[in-house]
Amino acid sequence: MSKFWSEVVHGLTPYVPGEQPKLNNLVKLNTNENPYGPSPKVIVALQLEVAETLRLYPDPNSDKLKAAIAENFGLQANQVFIGNGSDEVLAHVFQALLNHSRPLLFPDITYSFYPVYCGLYGIESEIIPLNNQFEIDVSDYDRPNGGIIFPNPNAPTGVPLALVEIEKLLKFNTESVVVIDEAYVDFGTESAVKLINAYPNLLVTQTLSKARSLAGLRVGYALGHKDLIEALVRVKDSFNSYPIDRFAEAGATAAMQDKAYFEQTCEKVIATRAALVQGLQALDFEVLPSGANFVFAKHKTHDGAALTEKLRDKNIIIRHFKKPARIAPYLRITIGTDTQSKQLLDALTTILK
Ligand SMILES: Cc1ncc(COP(=O)(O)O)c(C=O)c1O
Repeated sequence: MSKFWSEVVHGLTPYVPGEQPKLNNLVKLNTNENPYGPSPKVIVALQLEVAETLRLYPDPNSDKLKAAIAENFGLQANQVFIGNGSDEVLAHVFQALLNHSRPLLFPDITYSFYPVYCGLYGIESEIIPLNNQFEIDVSDYDRPNGGIIFPNPNAPTGVPLALVEIEKLLKFNTESVVVIDEAYVDFGTESAVKLINAYPNLLVTQTLSKARSLAGLRVGYALGHKDLIEALVRVKDSFNSYPIDRFAEAGATAAMQDKAYFEQTCEKVIATRAALVQGLQALDFEVLPSGANFVFAKHKTHDGAALTEKLRDKNIIIRHFKKPARIAPYLRITIGTDTQSKQLLDALTTILK
């Protein structure tokens, strides 16, 4: 506490990201990073950028990257907004589009950054519980609101929501913005991007951190009607005109253009996930259906926190959430390589003996 702090700082409860341990030789399955490197074309693009001058500011509008993203989705460049990771994009979304007199709606179990942004911007929220199967029931969102946001697939559960359900929601909720956070969509969940031209209040956010294996580069984007995008640009240009540096723009553009590599790595992750789910079930875990690059699993008898600690003793790091209480028994396990899955399953076999 400091007398020099602005009033708002005293009330903040900041987001706590998953640990980035400084130790080597860990099986790191805690922050949903991709086990495979980015496309080799990204590395070439970054090297070329090193050869260019860093003396100059980057393009404040990231036009090259915007064009590559627009082309990838069959949208116009003015339907794309780019930011420093989708976290920054989401921060602008909360301020530009979700701050109204009516409450913002989001699920009880969801990405824990949402309540943090509400605290930062003074946005009132109403928490809508998931059903007993940890699913979003869109009919629960048919109530007065200043906006709706949830990830699809949801985090940290990984449970996907069918596109027909999202369209149902958009049909009855026409007077506020609906944000679908698609950080993990490429691992087998249906994207809502194809609905963008039909629903002017739909905004979809995505990231290059997961399926394109560029968590370290920090690039994310939002896709939607040009008027929604204009609101985001107005906030960005009142905050930081240059959120994406020259490396990020060059590397991200190459990543968006290498579709073959992207599809290949996503398929590998999906195949490893299927095998891991089987392995976990054989060890008496219940695993929620996952459309993400992680699974959410609880053991029939063993406690989530204790299992997490025992795995850590064996240099395997996964994520465990103490709150809310109904997810405390669960482990969130990032999909790594087949070798890492084997190391995890071997360690669990020993622990559970
Ligand atoms: C649901 C969800 N949305 C957004 C993000 C932010 O990703 P990034 O800022 O790396 O783009 C994450 C990161 O873990 C996430 O889990």
